Amino acid sequence: MANRGNFSGRIGFILAAAGSAVGLGNIWRFPYLAGSNGGAIFLLVYLTCILLLCYPVMVGEIAIGRSANSDAYGSYNKLGGRKWGYLGLFGIMAGIFILSFYNVVAGWAFGYFLHISFGDLLNHQDFGGFFGDYVNDILDVSSVAGLANSNFIFSLVFMALTAIIVSQGIQKGIEAANKIMMPSLYLILIGIIIYSLTLPNAFSGVKFYLIPDFSELKIKTVVDGLKQAFFSLSLGMGALITYGSYLSKKENITSSALVISVADTSVAFFAGLMVFPLVHFLAFKLTIDPQQIGTSGPPLIFVVLPQIFSEMGLILGRIIGGSFFLLVCFAALTSTISLLEVPVAYLVDQKKMKRKNVVWLLALLIFICGLPSMVSQGMIPAFNKLTFYRGQDFLTFIADMSDICLTVGGCLMCIFISRQWGIANMDAELTHGNDGYMSSKTRSFLHITIQWVAPVLLGLLSILIIVEKFFGIDNLI
Ligand code: PHE
Repeated sequence: MANRGNFSGRIGFILAAAGSAVGLGNIWRFPYLAGSNGGAIFLLVYLTCILLLCYPVMVGEIAIGRSANSDAYGSYNKLGGRKWGYLGLFGIMAGIFILSFYNVVAGWAFGYFLHISFGDLLNHQDFGGFFGDYVNDILDVSSVAGLANSNFIFSLVFMALTAIIVSQGIQKGIEAANKIMMPSLYLILIGIIIYSLTLPNAFSGVKFYLIPDFSELKIKTVVDGLKQAFFSLSLGMGALITYGSYLSKKENITSSALVISVADTSVAFFAGLMVFPLVHFLAFKLTIDPQQIGTSGPPLIFVVLPQIFSEMGLILGRIIGGSFFLLVCFAALTSTISLLEVPVAYLVDQKKMKRKNVVWLLALLIFICGLPSMVSQGMIPAFNKLTFYRGQDFLTFIADMSDICLTVGGCLMCIFISRQWGIANMDAELTHGNDGYMSSKTRSFLHITIQWVAPVLLGLLSILIIVEKFFGIDNLI
């Protein structure tokens, strides 16, 4: 096979895979899910899901990709025949859908970065109103803060940035970009946490976040924890099969997967540690109960946080707020490049197309697929309230459907390993770069989880997620 490109070594691979994992899911979705599911108890459920279900699936995916040395479709096809190739295609399609809406939200963050750092967004009085207008009228090129306010343009630029990086290939593009953005992301995150802990009332936020309330443990906590864990670790759709295919046989997969999981989980955890002190600081400033500050859904980072940054005064607000949205952009970009790489690898490997052409073609197509999500925030009423989906908007619909695809994809991957490829073949792959693997406890753990625990629980929870999405979980318990 022609040279497909490869990571330069362990660090490059780990940073890229952790970059894929760390994204909007960690910084935006994790804190509010934790907040609305009882704080620390959610963290506990989340960690259990990572250990029992996500870690084994991650090891499995990387092993499949490295063993077959091909894209998501090619890998399943090579190791399991044509029928299993469809599972790869299913993942590639899921990736395309995720990128289509993910890029819209990334565009919002990119616009906020510009508006806060260089515009006068922080002087606004009504942050909710600003956000509503911003996501509603995507073609508004009139300047709001000395800057065009078009989400259409911001998302287009974000997709172009993603395409520029992916078109440079594995080492010069994906690896190089992650080597810059990932360390910067950690530095900014730590900087903002330190600052936010010095604010008045910060520790009441920490307490809320870290002291578990067991009465909050419900089926919904488990369902939310699982779907969040899968999304956050980029599992179930072939991103790690694709990245794994660029990994050298010298590297140890089981330990790399551990580092990636820890890196991702720590960013999610730290994001909470950054957000809750800020929210409690705002409550203190406004002399209201923190519970009164709506921290769920998109408003958390696009409405509540800008209001907090504006309370810091213009200069400090610009610095802290601008850094925060730069952090969000870095996190999103390292994820969008992995999402784009999945279909790109498929067309390069299977259809022998040139990387550069494929990248730009797909980027444009996926951007167009994202338009219904973009106009679903008010601009076009038919997309704003889907009658077949409990009156929810299109962006929520497509995001929910991807959650389902990921857990179903993960479940089928476990079945693929145990019933088709064979757990012994996975073992053989995992011994490369890890001499002690055959006699290790990790091996027994992976055997039990991949053959029994993960497929059964993922199957059950996928059904629960489907029921929750279409009928509402409250009706269930
Ligand atoms: N893990 C990314 C996040 O947390 C999203 C993602 C999902 C990226 C699936 C790639 C594949 O934001």
